[in-house]
Amino acid sequence: MVDRDVELVEKISDLKKKRNAVILVHNYQLGEVQDIADFIGDSLELSQNAAKTDADVIVFCGVHFMAETASILCPDKVVLLPDMNAGCPMANMITAERLRTKKKEHPQAVVVCYINSSAEVKAESDICCTSANAVGVVESLDAREILFVPDQYLGHYISTKTDKKMILWPGFCPTHVRIKPERIQELKQEYPQAKVVIHPECRPEVIALADEVLSTSGMCRYAQRDEVREMVVGTEMGIIHRLKKENPGKRFIPVSEQAICPNMKLINLEKVLWSLEEMTPEVKVPDEIRLKAIAAVDKMLRIGRKL
Ligand code: 13P
Ligand code: SF4
Repeated sequence: MVDRDVELVEKISDLKKKRNAVILVHNYQLGEVQDIADFIGDSLELSQNAAKTDADVIVFCGVHFMAETASILCPDKVVLLPDMNAGCPMANMITAERLRTKKKEHPQAVVVCYINSSAEVKAESDICCTSANAVGVVESLDAREILFVPDQYLGHYISTKTDKKMILWPGFCPTHVRIKPERIQELKQEYPQAKVVIHPECRPEVIALADEVLSTSGMCRYAQRDEVREMVVGTEMGIIHRLKKENPGKRFIPVSEQAICPNMKLINLEKVLWSLEEMTPEVKVPDEIRLKAIAAVDKMLRIGRKL
């Protein structure tokens, strides 16, 4: 660790104790931020952790919808997002108003929303899901027709695993569409022993080449298996830091070094420290939305991880 980091990490650690804060970090964050995590994980694990922490303050190192989910689950805690500009373009591809219009076109459909969505969209939905439990959530529903928002590719992936009729919103992740099947074919030739793991936000032609389709933490667990020595990784680059750290001696090959989510990279050590010092920027979901959104999040947490 460089001197700048040592000093910052010490200051963050002191202030964290003083504020009774917990630092929750998504698997795509910068390595320097991953290394100060009290808990690092995927969207499902982070929301489970937010729900059970007894800290007074949650410093959320991720993107806005993740901090909002923590605020929905923990209305009495202060939820800090060290950079308010850290949004998710996919989450911004739908609004509550447009969802209400779509619901009128499909009155029989149950609305399942990917957790990568705003609190207002969650408030209009019947149940949430994450990449870790999406198939399990949809299969658990006593409904023939599902309106799935906003990720068309995760929705398409679910449709290959269920008999239910899936109506898909046309959203997508601009980072995951940079992952191309041609490159995976080349890497399969170059590393014939490697396992190919793909995030379900990728396009169907990419998913078709996967040995495993997994959430980010699913990938981290899979990497620890003895039989996995080399892994071709089809998701955002940030996960490579954790994979290498937890599995010294194994080889991790990203499909695309351009698969970087700029929003996930906005948070750094300076911003975490500043956020704890100033106790800002705070993400707080207003009660009138929170009380509607919590039902969808709670239902998902009760079902748990089934993928
Ligand atoms: P995970 O829940 O698999 O970590 O995915 C979150 C995300 O934003 C993927 O783009
Ligand atoms: Fe959103 Fe994609 Fe970034 Fe995940 S990687 S936060 S889905 S833009």
